Amino acid sequence: MKLKYFSHSAFQIITEKTIKILIDPFLDDNPTSPVKSKDVEADYIILTHGHGDHLGDSFKIAKRCNPTFICVNELANYCASHGFRAHNMHIGGSYQFDFGRVKFTIAHHGSKTPDNQYVGEPAGVIISIENKNIYHTGDTGLFYDMKLIGELNDIDFMLLPIGDNFTMGINDAVKAAEFVKPKVVIPMHYNTFPVINADPLEFKRLVESKNIHCKVLGFGEEISL
Ligand code: NI
Ligand code: MN
Repeated sequence: MKLKYFSHSAFQIITEKTIKILIDPFLDDNPTSPVKSKDVEADYIILTHGHGDHLGDSFKIAKRCNPTFICVNELANYCASHGFRAHNMHIGGSYQFDFGRVKFTIAHHGSKTPDNQYVGEPAGVIISIENKNIYHTGDTGLFYDMKLIGELNDIDFMLLPIGDNFTMGINDAVKAAEFVKPKVVIPMHYNTFPVINADPLEFKRLVESKNIHCKVLGFGEEISL
């Protein structure tokens, strides 16, 4: 499979069978994304929560591509109320899709949409595809149960916010990576706006001093997993 980072918390996965999955596609109003919503396609859109920088351009993309939204119940209902297909899930639950398995985890944050509707709990998500486990934490502060998530799941790639202010910052993110013990940690949710400026190379230096490999992806960079 291929994993592409658009910047902020927005990623694209394309599986060997060319199933296209977007996570938190915030592109058009994202000053750091080299790709805009008209340039992407989706069979599935996975959302961690309802904030505008995560819901992003989902509905614009969905109008064109008719994907299935995968998110917690209240947010899934919100997507369905706009006429889109949705698979409702909730924290702690997992489900086998045609591309792989999705499980929602807790995240400590909020989840209001840009039009001011509260859409349930924010979440993280573990996506298991082609024998790889990818843990996108969503927006969250550090929490000790990450240790349990790491014990129960062999995480290959952990996508982790480092930008501080709205989420954990670099030092807490290092601790989060130590709790989960992924094979590779990829920093996200930084340098989109001045308030979340952070140095990913400083994070890399600190987390690698704890023997956890860190890959800093460029905005628009794609890697094969
Ligand atoms: Ni948020
Ligand atoms: Mn955010």
